[in-house]
Amino acid sequence: MTFENLLTEKKEATFIITINRPDKLNALNKKTIREIGEAVKTAQADSDIRVIILTGSGTKAFVAGADISEFSSFSEAEGVQLAQDGHDVFNSIEQSSKPVIAAINGFALGGGCELAMSCHMRIAATNARFGQPEVKLGLIPGYGGTQRLPLLIGKTKAIEFLMTADMIDAEEAYRLGLVNHVTAPDALLAKCLEIATKISQQAPLAVAGIIRSVNACYEKNTDGYATEIKEFGKCFITEDFTEGTTAFLGKRQANFKGK
Ligand code: COA
Repeated sequence: MTFENLLTEKKEATFIITINRPDKLNALNKKTIREIGEAVKTAQADSDIRVIILTGSGTKAFVAGADISEFSSFSEAEGVQLAQDGHDVFNSIEQSSKPVIAAINGFALGGGCELAMSCHMRIAATNARFGQPEVKLGLIPGYGGTQRLPLLIGKTKAIEFLMTADMIDAEEAYRLGLVNHVTAPDALLAKCLEIATKISQQAPLAVAGIIRSVNACYEKNTDGYATEIKEFGKCFITEDFTEGTTAFLGKRQANFKGK
């Protein structure tokens, strides 16, 4: 499958999606958001893929936000639709049964920070910068930022960043728990691939069960403990459970098939 604004590449069991509008700092226009949704769906359907990495092209930006030129004359209804379409795609990333790792190689502002926050893990290069500057445009975040930022770093700092539009660097993002690791820019992809390989060696259905159970912790009206009990039980009827326990008892490496 080819895309206008994305590059995609398979590296063993990892699918790398690169947002490719470097001259616009990879700003998310509607087409790019739609294509990200399609690329994630493609990776879901490919049984050889176990992990997805999402990054930006060039050395300056992961994503510098939603494309401001596209919505500057929008009506209220168009604004609602824009946000809804973004939410649908970002929710599909958060709910992806295959883990999505954001490789943040520069500015992650507005929709870029929100996109990274919808991923399951975030690895930042030392030149990464994070922020939600929408308030400077007379806006609030519309792709989940008011919800995911407090969940990830707590209400105290989140509301400050949302209201001041302050940008933070990778080290501060790490201190606040917004990112999992910080690496040199030229080591970023290798670090993400190292994590992806480690996850790829685990049982895929168990990984998917972890995602569903952890997500349930943050879903209103869902009992996360009940979700965990159900997901735990489901593992027992998988071939991977038989393989994992047999391999352990036989003192050999498990070879999981995702079945
Ligand atoms: N939407 C549309 N275009 C964007 C963009 C966005 N969110 N962010 C950057 N661009 C474009 C610029 O318009 C410029 O295009 P041009 O060369 O055709 O004029 C190009 O990307 C390069 O950006 P520029 O501003 O020249 O780079 P810079 O290094 O001086 O500044 C930023 C970098 C990230 C600080 C600055 O681009 C910026 O503030 N972007 C907007 C961030 C934002 O508000 N995001 C939230 C949107 S809701």
